[in-house]
Amino acid sequence: MNASPRADEDFRHRLDFAAEATEATLAGLLATQRLPDEIARPSRLLEAMRYASLGGGKRLRPFLVIETARLLGVEGTGVLRVASALEMIHCYSLVHDDLPAMDDDDLRRGRPTCHKAFDEATAILAGDGLLTYAFDVVADAATHEDPTLRADLVLALARASGLGGMVGGQALDLAAEIAARPLSQAEILEMQAMKTGALLRFAVDAGAMLGRASPQQSSALTAYGKALGAAFQIADDILDAEGDTVALGKRAGKDAARGKATLVSLLGLEAARKRCDQLVEEATQALDKTGLKPATQTLEQAARFVAARRN
Ligand code: IPE
Ligand code: IPE
Ligand code: MG
Ligand code: MG
Ligand code: MG
Repeated sequence: MNASPRADEDFRHRLDFAAEATEATLAGLLATQRLPDEIARPSRLLEAMRYASLGGGKRLRPFLVIETARLLGVEGTGVLRVASALEMIHCYSLVHDDLPAMDDDDLRRGRPTCHKAFDEATAILAGDGLLTYAFDVVADAATHEDPTLRADLVLALARASGLGGMVGGQALDLAAEIAARPLSQAEILEMQAMKTGALLRFAVDAGAMLGRASPQQSSALTAYGKALGAAFQIADDILDAEGDTVALGKRAGKDAARGKATLVSLLGLEAARKRCDQLVEEATQALDKTGLKPATQTLEQAARFVAARRN
C-alpha cells in the first residue's frame, strides 16, 4: 500500500529532522575544543574528519536510530549521540572504501573524496579518528545514565562494525574482485549483510535498546533492520548500474568496471529489482509483529524509501 501525500510529507519532514539533528550533533562533537584527557586536536586531521562527516549524506542510519527509539517513546540527546556515533562509523567506512587500495573513487557526496581533498595518509587517519571517536561518544556518560546500556551499545556497535560485520564484508567484497570464480547468490547476500547490512541493523537495534523494547519487539525490529539492510545494498548496486553520477554524487558504473560481485552482475537488473522489492515487503511485514501499528508508519516508509531513492 502506498502512503498518502500527507504521510509522504511527514516522512520527508522526519528525514530532514534527523539530518539536521545529526549535523548539529556531529559539528558539536568535532569542534576545535578538546575533551578532558585529549592532549590536542591536530587541526588538519580534525578538518579531514569534519570534511568526511559534515555537510552531506542522507543520514539514513541516524534516521533509523532516531525513529526506532521514537517509536518506543524515547527522544533526546542520548539518542542523537548514538545516531551520530553510528554515522561516524559509516563516514569512516566511506573514506576507507574510497581509498586507492579499495574502490579507488574520486567523488563522494558530490565532492572530491577525502584522500583527494587531503592526502591518503590523512584520509586513513581521519577514518581511524572517526572510528575511535564513535566508541568514545557511545561510552561517555552523556549518552545514557545506565552504564550497562552504554556497554551493551558499545558491544553491539563493535560487533556490527568489525571482523564479523562491516570490515569483514569489505574484505569479502574486495576478495570477490579477484576471485577465480564468481560468488554464488548466497555468498553475495552474506557479503552484503556484512558490509552494509550490519550497520543498518545496528541502527534499528540501537533504537530498540534505547527504547527498552520488549524481546518480541526487538526481534521484530531486528528482522526489519536485516531486510531493510539487504534491500539497501541491492538498491545501491542498481543505482550504480543505472549510472547517474550527478544524482548519486559518486561515480556510477564502477561496479561492473571493477568486477564487483553484486546481485545485478549475477542475476541482471530486473531480478535484482524484484528481490529488492521483496525485501521491502519483508521489512514492512516484520513491523507488524511489533504490535505498535500504526505508529510504525515512518519505518514502513523508510523501507520503501530505501528501494525508491535516486541517490
Ligand atoms: C553508501 O551509503 C555506502 C553503502 C553502504 C552502500 P549511503 O547511500 O547511505 O551513503 P550516504 O551516507 O547517503 O552518502
Ligand atoms: C560500501 O559499498 C560499503 C561500505 C562503505 C561499508 P560500496 O563500495 O558499494 O559503496 P559505494 O557505492 O562506494 O558508496
Ligand atoms: Mg566498496
Ligand atoms: Mg565503493
Ligand atoms: Mg556501491
